[in-house]
Amino acid sequence: MKCLSLRMGLVTLLACGMIAVCSSSAVAQDAAATFKAKCAMCHGADGKGSAMGVKMGAHDFTSADVQKQTDAQLTVIISKGKGKMPAYDGKLKDAEITDLVAFIRGLAKK
Ligand code: HEC
Repeated sequence: MKCLSLRMGLVTLLACGMIAVCSSSAVAQDAAATFKAKCAMCHGADGKGSAMGVKMGAHDFTSADVQKQTDAQLTVIISKGKGKMPAYDGKLKDAEITDLVAFIRGLAKK
């Protein structure tokens, strides 16, 4: 029994590794995971803002107000912070911030 579950675990691990390597959406999945872990508590899982986030002044990511801002503007807000929005410069890699901007764009298309 123990041996079987170990093998299942290995198979799952292998499958996950293969998905991560082969899937072109691996980056998007990374951004989604980062967003869920670090941003969703204020911005909501769907980017529309959690009760706490909206109280602090966060805007609906799917709204025109946010989407009309350029990638560069959104990148600056994420890396340098704005108002009650924490700065992620040094906490996230530049590439991760770029992926998050793309992820925020994707939220609006849903
Ligand atoms: C502690 C709550 C909090 C967390 C955590 C947080 N934000 Fe924010 N964020 C805010 C607030 C509040 C604003 C509005 C700032 C303003 O306009 O004064 C904001 C603004 C933004 C904006 C500009 C659009 C807007 O709503 O005005 C982007 C883009 C953004 N955040 C992305 C992120 C990303 C990506 C993360 C995770 C890496 C994140 N935020 C984590 C609170 C948060």
